[in-house]
Amino acid sequence: MGFSTVITSGKGGAGKSTVSVGLGYAFSRQGSRVLLVDCDAGLRSLDRMLGIEENLVFDISDVVCGRCAPAEAIYPCPGQEGLFLLPAPVSAEALVPAGVMRRLVPMLQQYFDHVILDSPAGVSAGFAAAVCAADRAVVISGADPVGVRSASSVRTLLEGYPVKEIRLVINRFNEAYFRTTGTYEDLDEVIDRSGIRLLGLVPEDLPMAARIVSGKRPPESTPGMMALSRIASRIQGERVPISPLG
Ligand SMILES: Nc1ncnc2c1ncn2[C@@H]1O[C@H](COP(=O)(O)OP(=O)(O)O)[C@@H](O)[C@H]1O
Ligand SMILES: [Mg+2]
Repeated sequence: MGFSTVITSGKGGAGKSTVSVGLGYAFSRQGSRVLLVDCDAGLRSLDRMLGIEENLVFDISDVVCGRCAPAEAIYPCPGQEGLFLLPAPVSAEALVPAGVMRRLVPMLQQYFDHVILDSPAGVSAGFAAAVCAADRAVVISGADPVGVRSASSVRTLLEGYPVKEIRLVINRFNEAYFRTTGTYEDLDEVIDRSGIRLLGLVPEDLPMAARIVSGKRPPESTPGMMALSRIASRIQGERVPISPLG
């Protein structure tokens, strides 16, 4: 039985989808079978980010309405063995309710080592649906006061769900920008203010983000992907020290 991990944030644009896809590549390159579940009904981004939007026929709402078998709505990612997508519905109205997700996700966990749920931002019904069935939550935040405050609010919200572990990923970290904003003394202060234990730090990496957003495989050797690979190893239980590189 695999693990389910929801990737969430308070603020939109924190990098949830980028981190979900990057972690999907990292886990599958390490030999795991990974299912990315796009929970952003109506806005959907993972199909594009994985370069498979042309081939989609079914989505998660077709599975729950019985219009297709789960396997028919699960698409392999071209060029990356072991990485699969269950797409979000085109319409926000077709959002899968939390009660249904609680039954669906454990069933999917039987076939994959990791089920990664890419949540919509904030506190919507979509957030509840993505979070309700996860074993673990990873909260994505920038190292800035707006991101950190919303990460702290999400942590409080997550306490109302049966997630066993809540961890923080500081994304898009840029040392010069961090120093210029000057709000926090150091990263320890960011972590303290969020109230969430750190899982890792992903540097700002424009080449990686540009590859992912345009549906191309990110190379393993970029700083962002190397940080995500270390995060994947930590999730697997390996002792990978957190360094300034993430
Ligand atoms: N580590 C990173 N380095 C550079 N750009 C990033 C990074 N993470 C995300 N981005 C960019 O930030 C924007 C928002 O990312 P996205 O993953 O769509 O956020 P969300 O899913 O939280 O709304 C995108 O333009 C993406 O390319
Ligand atoms: Mg997103």
